[in-house]
Amino acid sequence: MPKILDACCGSRLFWFDKDCSFATYMDIREEEYEIHGKKINVKPDVVADFRDMPFENNVYDLVVFDPPHLKWAGQNSIMKGQYGQLDKENWPEDIKQGMSECMRVLKPSGTLIFKWNENQVKLKDVLKAVEPYSPLFGNKRSQTHWLVFMKEEQQKPVLPEFVAKWFEDAKDNLEIPIFYECVRAMEICKEYRNEFHQWFANSKKNPIETLIRMKDGYEVEKEPMYYVILSENKGGWKYTFLDEEGNADYTNNKAHIPTFTEKEIKGNDERFWPFAVPVKEVEG
Ligand SMILES: C[S@@+](CC[C@H](N)C(=O)[O-])C[C@H]1O[C@@H](n2cnc3c(N)ncnc32)[C@H](O)[C@@H]1O
Repeated sequence: MPKILDACCGSRLFWFDKDCSFATYMDIREEEYEIHGKKINVKPDVVADFRDMPFENNVYDLVVFDPPHLKWAGQNSIMKGQYGQLDKENWPEDIKQGMSECMRVLKPSGTLIFKWNENQVKLKDVLKAVEPYSPLFGNKRSQTHWLVFMKEEQQKPVLPEFVAKWFEDAKDNLEIPIFYECVRAMEICKEYRNEFHQWFANSKKNPIETLIRMKDGYEVEKEPMYYVILSENKGGWKYTFLDEEGNADYTNNKAHIPTFTEKEIKGNDERFWPFAVPVKEVEG
């Protein structure tokens, strides 16, 4: 089921289905009264401020943001009852904060619909206030604008293969495996830790936050590759190198030299490691 947030729902006037089962209706007020024969019926699911929303990051597929657009409105007017009012001084900062909260709770690549009536505040001034966000498209001519924004894809975390493997085994129910890893990180002595335990115990890498972010996608780190060059310019050959069978071989053409990971080199014989040359270094 998709999840929609209406961040300032008011009386839900623009909704065709005023009780959409997959929408969360939020407003800063809850009130019901009649003014000049009009019913004001603001009954949000969540009473909260759009400048500081009580939701986690990246949870909504669609957010609709229809903040107040009036700087001036009669104290007892229908307009004020239905639409609320902007703070005359601080409105650009309020709308900016609201916009950035909408983007925070929106899923990456999710859609944000922003509604604005430019009767009192011009659209260009509001768009200036919400920078760096900018709309993709919307109606430009009428006084009431419906504008479409999209949340940019977040940069995906890049991780070693062993973290990716752990994540793939645990991703369907991350809560418990993360909990166990926390316990293990405290209990297992350093010498018994595997690569993953070591990575997890390194708090500088924000391991818990990273594992949770991986739910939105990740990339696997490319392992650095090395040549093992035993000597250069000896016996009439430019390179004496380690071949795939673990024997010394000769060539004048570096394209013929096989490449290895650190693990492969050390797994063959630790003594080869001092002869390892990063592939880029030779090529450069
Ligand atoms: C333009 S009206 C929304 C009308 C609504 N879209 C409709 O269809 O009826 C703006 C709403 O934002 C609410 N509001 C004002 N400041 C707010 C804030 N800081 N956080 C959340 N809602 C706020 C107002 O109470 C008002 O109901």
